[in-house]
Amino acid sequence: MTPPELKVMVYDEGERLAREVAASMVELAKESIAEHGQCTLALSGGSTPRHVYELLGKQGVVEDMPWEHTLLFWGDERVVKPDHPDSNYRMVYEALLKGGPVPLENIVPIQTSGLDPAVCAERYERLLQQRVRRKSEGFPLFDLILLGIGNDGHTASLFPGTPAPLERTHAVTWCDPVQVNPQVVPAVSRVTITAPVIWKASNVFVLAEGAAKKEILGKIFAPGPIDTQPVARLIWRCSGQVRFFIDNAALPDNAKKG
Ligand code: 6PG
Repeated sequence: MTPPELKVMVYDEGERLAREVAASMVELAKESIAEHGQCTLALSGGSTPRHVYELLGKQGVVEDMPWEHTLLFWGDERVVKPDHPDSNYRMVYEALLKGGPVPLENIVPIQTSGLDPAVCAERYERLLQQRVRRKSEGFPLFDLILLGIGNDGHTASLFPGTPAPLERTHAVTWCDPVQVNPQVVPAVSRVTITAPVIWKASNVFVLAEGAAKKEILGKIFAPGPIDTQPVARLIWRCSGQVRFFIDNAALPDNAKKG
């Protein structure tokens, strides 16, 4: 099983990859707004997408993002305060938001301050139901979800060995990956969108850079049943367009170039 459209774009180095991702996001946002008046975008955390967010915040690097009609959500968050160094919100704030291009009312972070992870998840699920107009079988239908790939094969914060990757009822769940893998960094609970939300998105961009990702990408691109490890094999059940943005160092031998 593969998504209706799965493309693998490969770049010599990170700057070109980041510019291509940013330009593709702007193009997709304009298409979504032309089509239904809004672009709903779920951001990935971690380090790989940071430079993309920086480019989106700079004038003149890529065409300006239509922020007025773009709603920013988070695909996952660490359950720490928003000013904590491990916060995905803080990473996006420093890379993009502090420059002020996005209207405050269009920024919809996962609230984590002082909250139990399960409460964070319940609240964000309600917020998605309110703020993401388009739905598919009751799940929020995002125009674009950005994903990264962890070296253990997780994506978003659907960590292997936790119940999170198996959640099929809720749009948002939580997990405590360190209970399964004490090496997980940072060793905190996570809140995350679930597989059905990823599967229903109109577009999914997967970003992976560096030699450290080559082995896990090789396992992800290897043919085999979807519901097995690595977790990120779930991407092959997406019903929308999937684009992998990979640099040469991360490209496994078994990934055909799109
Ligand atoms: C997170 C991310 C996570 C990330 C991968 C890859 O909260 O950590 O959402 O899914 O995308 O772990 O992270 P890097 O881009 O740092 O390799």
